Amino acid sequence: MSEQPIVRRRVVKKGISDARTNDSRTQSQYDPYKDAAWGFINHWYPALFTNELEEDQVEGIQICGVPIVLRRAEGKVYALKDQCLHRGVRLSEKPMCFNKDSITCWYHGFTFDLKDGDLTTIVGNPDDKLIGTTGITTYPVHEVNGMIFVFVREDDFSLEDVPPLSDDLPFRFPENSEKFPHPLWPKSPSVLDDNAMILGMHRTGYGDWRIACENGFDNAHILVHKDNTIVHAMEWVLPLGIVPVSDDAITVVEDEKGPKGLMQWLFTDRWKPTLENKELGVKVDGMNSRHYRTSVVLPGVLMVENWPENHVVQYEWYVPITDDTHEYWEVLVKIVKTDEEKRLYQQRYDLVYKPLCLHGFNDCDLYAREAMQNFYSDGTGWDDEQLVSTDVSPITWRKLASRWNRGIAKPGRGVAGSLKDTSLIFKNTADGHRPGYKVRKIEE
Ligand code: FES
Ligand SMILES: [Fe+2]
Repeated sequence: MSEQPIVRRRVVKKGISDARTNDSRTQSQYDPYKDAAWGFINHWYPALFTNELEEDQVEGIQICGVPIVLRRAEGKVYALKDQCLHRGVRLSEKPMCFNKDSITCWYHGFTFDLKDGDLTTIVGNPDDKLIGTTGITTYPVHEVNGMIFVFVREDDFSLEDVPPLSDDLPFRFPENSEKFPHPLWPKSPSVLDDNAMILGMHRTGYGDWRIACENGFDNAHILVHKDNTIVHAMEWVLPLGIVPVSDDAITVVEDEKGPKGLMQWLFTDRWKPTLENKELGVKVDGMNSRHYRTSVVLPGVLMVENWPENHVVQYEWYVPITDDTHEYWEVLVKIVKTDEEKRLYQQRYDLVYKPLCLHGFNDCDLYAREAMQNFYSDGTGWDDEQLVSTDVSPITWRKLASRWNRGIAKPGRGVAGSLKDTSLIFKNTADGHRPGYKVRKIEE
């Protein structure tokens, strides 16, 4: 009997592979990140666009489980905790303001100073001994080029320690031009620049903010955009994926001052675009190159340079509302100096960028993120995921975010979303109101 050659079958391991890049040793370096379901607190976040808050307008939002009321008075925006210290209703649900200096709770009349949140009087009880002894937390505001940013702080985070907004925004150019040179495009405008015109939108995403954030700079996920209208209309060469081929594919930035984040050296020899998968017979279409570069900084701000066209930059924020909802901000920034440049940029935004990029292209990101939510929502996804070499980007981000965040938000107390199955959520949903970002005003 002749000896039969031994047939070696590939052993298919069921369960977690040792070859994954996020083994338990790696995971232990980002434990704080895994605890940040409600976001990173003590950071700057976008709250509203300027045109969403006119003089005397009052709006309520929620960031990192913190209810916040915004009011514009004499042109200036104030932000305070939107939870009355008496019995906890949201001031923004039924705005009541008797002057330009204060906001009054519509329920029993507790009145708070806009500047420092102090309880200055109670409408029907002006001699109560509580007056002058307590107050609600205020939040620093920075309004610039059509956006209102709020520093969302813990009640005991000192106002003296509040860093400048620029510490929580992407790397600026030309300051960083030498550090991050790129031959393919000139500097990328910042939201802080003179003549920066910001156009964009925000909407609620139904998923964990971290899942959304990681999607923004995930170099494997561009497959989801393969057949987007803009890609075919412009005949872009959009790779099937981009794979790191060098140890310095990513630069981590953790200078003492300034933003903390990472920059990916895309479209250099440190990353290799995948243009074909022979096994599947899949190839990229397109003729026109579309070079871009992504970076991300705390508390979760994406910059896509040179996107969707030359001289435009896209910024995204994934502002945690609760542990399973976030406000997805997408803005495009361009430097425009003349009225004619403004008009043309606005027209390009209305006719191309908004429908085909911020919707169209980015709608795919939104549904992909929501599709991941069940896997991560009970926390087990962070342990069960099996990441590959391309996922060096989220792993690097998780580690640096764990090292440099200014605080992990505690689960919201007494706010929307702190309990998931209340009769109010079911009633509102049945009435056609999805859980979201802005407070709905009481209708009488
Ligand atoms: S709940 Fe605000 S005054 Fe009573
Ligand atoms: Fe995407």
